[in-house]
Amino acid sequence: MTNWDTPGLIDIPAVRDHLGALGVVEKDLPFPFPIKRVYFLYDVPADAVRGSHAHKELHQLIIAVSGSFIVELDNGSEKLSFDLHSPDKGLRVPPGYWRTLSNFSGGAAALVFASEEYDPTDYIRDYDEFVSWSQK
Ligand code: TYD
Repeated sequence: MTNWDTPGLIDIPAVRDHLGALGVVEKDLPFPFPIKRVYFLYDVPADAVRGSHAHKELHQLIIAVSGSFIVELDNGSEKLSFDLHSPDKGLRVPPGYWRTLSNFSGGAAALVFASEEYDPTDYIRDYDEFVSWSQK
């Protein structure tokens, strides 16, 4: 049973035949939250570092639908690093994790499913504030 309160990679269901592959994310399969928002990152310069924030409530599923990039996660006491490079794997990111996305390859695209609509008040953008918040 997948624990969505911890980060980790999950399989993204796909239908593959001689015409190619079709990945699917739909209700509960595999994202067990209401999908209230989908956004995607593309045209990211190779030296860019995206993210650098945490969320208080938001659950996300991040898929490298094209190319590759690295996602680093930090909950204030533990740091994890994930090399995303395949559309058949998704990274679950629970609330309470400082995240950075970096090392984008040429043509990389990150597809993100989110459990909530965009809400600037759900962000923590200062790392020291995040560490204090995470220790509460
Ligand atoms: P941000 O979340 O900081 O991007 P990243 O973590 O990938 O570096 O968002 C970048 C900008 O886009 C910021 O001005 C907020 C805006 N934005 C929206 O308007 N809606 C959204 O759903 C998201 C994720 C960001």
